[in-house]
Amino acid sequence: MTTNSIPAKHKVIFDTDPGVDDAMALYFALAHPDIDVIGITTTFGNVTVEQATANALYLTRIAGRSIPVAQGVPVPLAKDPGTPPAFIHGADGLGNLTSRVEAGGVAEVESAAEFIVKMARQHPGEITLVAVGPFGNLGLALKLEPQLPKLLKQVVLMAGTVDEPGNVSPVAEANVWNDPDAADLVFTAGWDLTMVGLDVTHRVVLPSTFFTGLAKKHQHIATDTLSHAVNFYANFYQSIRPDLGHACYGHDVLAFVWLVAPELFKTQSGRVRVAKEGIANGQTMMAKLAIPYPQSGWEADKPETRVCMEVDAKACASLIDTILSSDWLLPALR
Ligand code: BDR
Ligand code: CA
Repeated sequence: MTTNSIPAKHKVIFDTDPGVDDAMALYFALAHPDIDVIGITTTFGNVTVEQATANALYLTRIAGRSIPVAQGVPVPLAKDPGTPPAFIHGADGLGNLTSRVEAGGVAEVESAAEFIVKMARQHPGEITLVAVGPFGNLGLALKLEPQLPKLLKQVVLMAGTVDEPGNVSPVAEANVWNDPDAADLVFTAGWDLTMVGLDVTHRVVLPSTFFTGLAKKHQHIATDTLSHAVNFYANFYQSIRPDLGHACYGHDVLAFVWLVAPELFKTQSGRVRVAKEGIANGQTMMAKLAIPYPQSGWEADKPETRVCMEVDAKACASLIDTILSSDWLLPALR
């Protein structure tokens, strides 16, 4: 709390692989009056890490913000690297923009993991890390600073799934599947951890017309860019889920919605572990009940994760609408 008892803003480091829904999440965070994005760290995932860094700089600067961006891991910690899914997010991660304006900006000299550790030491107990890409930066940061779970206020992940089918295999969600070793480190590290996974992100469907409307309202390059990107993303979803109409899942934005409006979610706490090889590679498994046998890896003292299991989808969509429709954009930086 600040001295006059107004709740302090959430001080956030955003770890991301932008990515269309990452862009949506970033803009929700920039637009929300209770969120202060103090840094962005990038990872491979939807695009290469170099493209993710270029996109993070571009998206922030065209929205009129100058926020430190630190580049992170280019490949998974142990698994063989794959190819970014250009058919979902576009080869550039933003739906294949036809051109980009000159927006300037350069990345920090330190790595994402170094940046996270530095900021956590400078602001002990204050920072929320919202991570919405593969989790190699968090894994490396934990190796650099084993006390990190105590130095951060909390960690919120867009990751995994418990009951809902996976989106890259019958059991795996993309961010976990992309780097299962890093994800398992994150789920067993012992921080205050919330998982916002497909169990809830697949409930919140956002029509592309919503983003066209935003672009029309704001008449700003940032919302034009987002609308273009969402249009491409919705084409992909329409090809696999024609029943949704021309629409998309907001995945990453839901991590921020949880941060500012946790009352819109029902959660369940339990130990979560990740399958790191074989046909279940990338599966997130949650111990929902007590296990009456000694099981290696499932010891009762392993840290628990707060897992989002249900969501008020209508209220989420309405909050996203209200926040992105508000007057939050500044003139683009050059
Ligand atoms: C997650 O994977 C990425 O494609 C999205 O940006 C999101 O973070 C959804 O499974
Ligand atoms: Ca993402």
